[in-house]
Amino acid sequence: MAKLALALLLISMAMPWAQTQDLKWAKRLDSGGQPTTNLQFYFHDTVSGKTPTAVRVGQASQTEKSPTLFGALLMADDPLTEGPDRSSKLVGRAQGLYGSAGQEGFGLIMALSYGFCDGIYNGSSISVLGLNQALNPVREMSVVGGTGVFRMARGYAEARTHWFDPATGDAIVAYNVTVFH
Ligand SMILES: *[C@@H]1O[C@H](CO)[C@@H](O)[C@H](O)[C@H]1NC(C)=O
Ligand SMILES: *[C@@H]1O[C@H](CO)[C@@H](O)[C@H](O)[C@H]1NC(C)=O
Repeated sequence: MAKLALALLLISMAMPWAQTQDLKWAKRLDSGGQPTTNLQFYFHDTVSGKTPTAVRVGQASQTEKSPTLFGALLMADDPLTEGPDRSSKLVGRAQGLYGSAGQEGFGLIMALSYGFCDGIYNGSSISVLGLNQALNPVREMSVVGGTGVFRMARGYAEARTHWFDPATGDAIVAYNVTVFH
C-alpha cells in the first residue's frame, strides 16, 4: 500500500499537468486552491483604412466639437495576438463596445468580451468592463465575468499602449490580465 502511494506520488510529480497546459501567452498560477491564470497578449485596434476593426456606430450632436470626442461610440472586433506583431499567433478577439466617456480628460468606457481561440482556452472568454484612460501609461480595468474555462471569473486587466499613431488613432495595446476563476 505504501509502495503504491509512493509510486502514485512519483507519477504525479513527473507529470505536472497544470504546467503542460501553459501557453506562451497564458499561464496557470499556483495560488493555493483558487485557479488563477495570467494572460498576456496584444490588442490591435485599427480605426483607419479600408478594413478597420473598430467602427463608429454612434455619436452625439456635440461630439465633433468636443476635444475628447465625448459621446462617440464604437463597435470593435479587434484581434488579440501573442506578440506585438499583427502577424504573430492569433489567440483571440475582443468584441464589443467602447466609447468616449470623458468630457474633461480623455477616457474610454470599455464593455468588451475577450474571446480566446488557442489551446485549452479556445471557446472561453472574459468580460472586461471599466474606464480606460488611454493617455495614462498604465490603465486598470475589471474582469467582471467569464465563460468556459473562465466561468465565474473575476480579476483585473492592466493595459499599456505599445504603439499609437496619433494621425489615425490606430493602436496596439499590451494586456496583462490576472483572472481568478
Ligand atoms: C477552436 O474551436 C473551434 C470550434 O470547436 C474549432 O473549429 C477550431 O478549429 C478551434 N481552434 C483551435 C485553434 O483549436
Ligand atoms: C503582470 O501582472 C502580474 C500580476 O499583477 C505581475 O506580477 C507581473 O509582473 C505583470 N507582468 C508584466 C510584464 O507587466
